[in-house]
Amino acid sequence: MSVEKVVRAEGANVKLRLKLDITQKVGEGRLKTKYEVSQYDLSAGYVLPESLKNLVPRDVPEFVDTERYVQRLMRALYHFKQCALIGPSGTGKTHVVYLVAKIAGLPLWEINCSLQTSVYDLFGRFVGLGKENWVDGLIVSWCRHGGILYLDEANMMKQDVATRLNPLLDTRGHLVLAEKDNEVIPRHKYGYVIISMNPYSVEFAGTKPLNVAFRRRLSVWINFDYLSVGSNISEREIDLVCERTKVSRELSESIVRAAAELRRRYKSGDLPYAPSVGDLINWATLIADGLPPLVAAEETIVGVASDDAEVQNSIRTTLQLIFSKKK
Ligand SMILES: Nc1ncnc2c1ncn2[C@@H]1O[C@H](COP(=O)(O)OP(=O)(O)OP(=O)(O)O)[C@@H](O)[C@H]1O
Ligand SMILES: [Mg+2]
Repeated sequence: MSVEKVVRAEGANVKLRLKLDITQKVGEGRLKTKYEVSQYDLSAGYVLPESLKNLVPRDVPEFVDTERYVQRLMRALYHFKQCALIGPSGTGKTHVVYLVAKIAGLPLWEINCSLQTSVYDLFGRFVGLGKENWVDGLIVSWCRHGGILYLDEANMMKQDVATRLNPLLDTRGHLVLAEKDNEVIPRHKYGYVIISMNPYSVEFAGTKPLNVAFRRRLSVWINFDYLSVGSNISEREIDLVCERTKVSRELSESIVRAAAELRRRYKSGDLPYAPSVGDLINWATLIADGLPPLVAAEETIVGVASDDAEVQNSIRTTLQLIFSKKK
């Protein structure tokens, strides 16, 4: 397996990757119009190397974009070449990054910074005996060939990697390969960087504030949130769940209401997890297959949230309240 495949396999957002199987081929031109991003051409003049074609995302599912995240991200990349995305788990950060890479037709180099990806995988190494065969790591490949470098969970990045990335994030940045006779690699003209992370807070076990040097190199920060939270219910989220799963609209509305309440509780620090749209689609899929809503929730919404019996019970109470109201 090539280095980038290894790293992508390790760092892939598995949840999203599975969802990507749902084929929804829509032309890039149509997407540019739909998300109103025609003026932000990120790849005009870029020649995509044949060998990198498989790094351009293909079948990205539709994204309900009430906050114009796609446009805001593409605008930031167009003007500043890099951007940060902040928001709780499941709010669509990774989904938007895939969509932007698809619309722009750029290769996506994805690194999950919380995984123990080695410095060799990221920067490169000599293989075999002696110093003849050097293999580029993922970051070096991005720097040479361009595309979008996506650093997921960037606040979990190890200090040694962050330190080496700092000069790259300056305008006209470059990378110095100390391990390869200090070769200097300029950042590719079409080399974009997106970092994403969960907000720093007590609920996100293990999160920490982003490295300061890193923080000041990013000009645009986009905050992500759920489509529906508390009493604020998004009609488009209801539509999305029933369109994808064929449950009735009425049922879809109850599902979204339940999720909105769980998200409200999660945001107030009362629950450790809140369901994403993806989780709702899984839940509704089992209902469409014939399971009663609360039974289907056991295997999806309740199970995914926590192993803790107390937390699970507290989620059940919210669900029962909403579904019993309906009867
Ligand atoms: N607005 C949306 N429209 C359609 N699908 C969405 C939307 N928001 C989230 N999803 C779906 O919800 C799931 C979670 O989204 P995603 O993985 O992009 O979240 P994330 O913000 O990257 O979360 P994490 O911080 O855990 O990495 C995916 O299946 C994604 O397709
Ligand atoms: Mg993600």
